Formats: sequence, structure tokens, C-alpha cells
Amino acid sequence: MKNEVLPVKPYRPKEFALSGLTGISDRTLEMHFKLYEGYVNETNRLTDRIAEILRDGKVDHEEMPAYSELTRRMGFEYNGMVLHELYFGNLKRGAPGKPDAASSAFRRATEASFASFDLWKTDFASIGGMRGVGWAICFQNPANGRLSNHWVSLHEIGNVAGFRPILVMDVWEHAFLLDYKPAERSRYIEAFFANLDWRAAEQRLSHVEA
Ligand SMILES: [Fe+2]
Repeated sequence: MKNEVLPVKPYRPKEFALSGLTGISDRTLEMHFKLYEGYVNETNRLTDRIAEILRDGKVDHEEMPAYSELTRRMGFEYNGMVLHELYFGNLKRGAPGKPDAASSAFRRATEASFASFDLWKTDFASIGGMRGVGWAICFQNPANGRLSNHWVSLHEIGNVAGFRPILVMDVWEHAFLLDYKPAERSRYIEAFFANLDWRAAEQRLSHVEA
């Protein structure tokens, strides 16, 4: 008997009104948006191909190698899509540079978890400077509100299950290679902070009493 497979609504690339950033060129952003769209398309394509295999209600022995490979790629493509959305979403033109010392909930959360905002920033920026291809991500543990910074290799290795990504920095070389040399990653990281939309990060915090 054939299973009825409900049509899955494809993901659509989001639009980001980002340009005129400090130290991250429009050329880089335009190239990066295209790359992001590739992750959205691949996520849809993987979903379709897996649905196709499932259409007859089973995964045949001979389908297993292809099914396994497609399934293993889900984490790469999904995280490639979602992390780029979070990254673009925490940048803005004319950003203030630092979160407001008096009113920023994000700043307070860093102070509760790292002793000081500056120490949190040192940790986050240093993770961004690690060798390799991936992301620096500040996560919040929704169970106790605590922030911790993590290195994520590629897009999917090192994400913490159930933690909320609060602040996301792409440190794949494509994020800065049109503007800086490979050895100048620290300049890109400075530019990232100069354009950081602290309020966007703040809105991702879940408000738990630690
Ligand atoms: Fe990227």
C-alpha cells in the first residue's frame, strides 16, 4: 500500500536589507546571500529526495546507501541555512559598537556567565580566531539562562542540542576573503563587532531566572 506523502512546503530564502556595513563590503554580502540561497535550495532538495524514497512506504535495502547519505547531509544543509539567517539577522548598518551598559539584557547575561562583558567578548572573538572552517556561536542554556560560547565546525558539528543560538558569527573564509586576506581574520572579527545588532541578539534570549 502506498503512503500518502503530504506535500512539504519548501523553505524560501529570506531577504536581508543589509548594505553599507563597516568593513564588510556589499560585494561580500551579495556573494554571501547567494551562498545562503544555495543552502535553502539544498535543504529543499534533500527533503524532496528523501520524500521520494519514502513514497512507497519503506526504505529498500538498495535504497539504503543513498538514503543514508542524503540523511547525513541534512544537518549540514539545515544548519547552513539557519545559521546564515541568524548571522545576517544579527548584523545591521549603523550599529552602536557595544551594547548599552545600563539597559542591555544581553550584556547583563554575559556578566552573569563570564564575570565581565569584556571577558565574554574575548572568549567569543578568540573562538572566532580558531583555525578551521566554521562558526563562533554564543548559546544560551534555556534551563538556567547561562551563556556559553562555542566553536561549530562546518555548520553542524558542535551545536548544543536544545541551546538557543543568541549571537552567531560566520568565520568561513567566504565571509571575509573579498575584503581581507586569510591571515586578517581578526580584522573581519572587529568588523563583525562594529556591525553587531545587539538588540537582535537580545531578542533571542529566553527570559529565565538563572
Ligand atoms: Fe557563510
